Amino acid sequence: MIDYSELYKALKNTEAAEWLNTLEQSVERAFNSPRHGDLDNWLAMLDSLPAIKAASIDLTHEIRIGSETDAEQNVRDKLEQHLRMLMPWRKGPFSIFGLDINTEWHSDWKWDRVQPHITPLKGKHVLDIGCGNGYYALRSYGQGADLVLGVDPGQKYIMQFYALKKYLGDIPVHLLPLGIEDIPPSLKAFDTVFSMGVLYHRRSPLEHLSELRECLKPGGELVLETLVIEGGVNSVLLPRDRYQQMRNVWFLPSCDALVLWLQRCGFKNVRVVDVSKTTTDEQRATDWMTFDSLENFLDANDPTKTIEGYPGPMRAVVLANAP
Ligand SMILES: C[S@@+](CC[C@H](N)C(=O)[O-])C[C@H]1O[C@@H](n2cnc3c(N)ncnc32)[C@H](O)[C@@H]1O
Repeated sequence: MIDYSELYKALKNTEAAEWLNTLEQSVERAFNSPRHGDLDNWLAMLDSLPAIKAASIDLTHEIRIGSETDAEQNVRDKLEQHLRMLMPWRKGPFSIFGLDINTEWHSDWKWDRVQPHITPLKGKHVLDIGCGNGYYALRSYGQGADLVLGVDPGQKYIMQFYALKKYLGDIPVHLLPLGIEDIPPSLKAFDTVFSMGVLYHRRSPLEHLSELRECLKPGGELVLETLVIEGGVNSVLLPRDRYQQMRNVWFLPSCDALVLWLQRCGFKNVRVVDVSKTTTDEQRATDWMTFDSLENFLDANDPTKTIEGYPGPMRAVVLANAP
């Protein structure tokens, strides 16, 4: 099983110490009831990853762990075989001992749109809600954060992270197989909370924003990234059924509506810092994610629209401070 003892030790001395009352049981429950059918294979895979020491690591400019000179070809082949057991790899890219994990998403492009605007992370305690495989958690640590926690119920993503972490040593970055609903209410413990690509999956977006506010210390910074549409303060799209083939997409507000939602939830200093259309260069099928991707979800005759006829994906980054 994943060893969280270092996390439990680290949390004791933080404002999030109260979480320790429930955290161990939540993790136990997440992994065991019911147990994911592939979990034992994944854990065995983690245990049998080849031992390689990274001569250098870069989490600041990209995610690069070691280089090809750190291990023989046959060892690197074994590593690749193991990591491919965790396909599809959606968020990245990662370079690990010369092996390029070319993921579905250019998460590095999103980071470049977000990172220049946020309050510097040096010395901060960071929480990433819906962290996927921890791409942004690692980049946050690369910016000097003291402690980074990610939560995501997707256990395969958690395993991807711990496969990479095996080569990163004892860094204070931890991913938990949990949802935001597993975080105690009113924890008010983190300097920076990320919620990226999550809001439109929530049936109740205002509740999500309120839960995010409650994770933040007073004055702490929310980094929110979500799908938006063009329009005024009262424009919100609720898809009739699917959006880009996804069944679990609920509310896509305009930027003005999103700002108002945040203000109504008590956030201060709300500002939109980036709006970008998602392109088929940023999200596409690769050798590490071979299923359909954005290109297949757009109207072949009018790629500004989804195949359902809705506006194509446009994403905003919004910053706000907890009261
Ligand atoms: C579209 S992905 C975004 C991943 C990443 N944050 C990014 O921006 O690339 C949405 C993520 O939210 C996670 N998720 C789903 N339900 C959640 C919940 N209740 N709490 C936290 N995360 C959740 C999913 O497993 C998925 O990894």
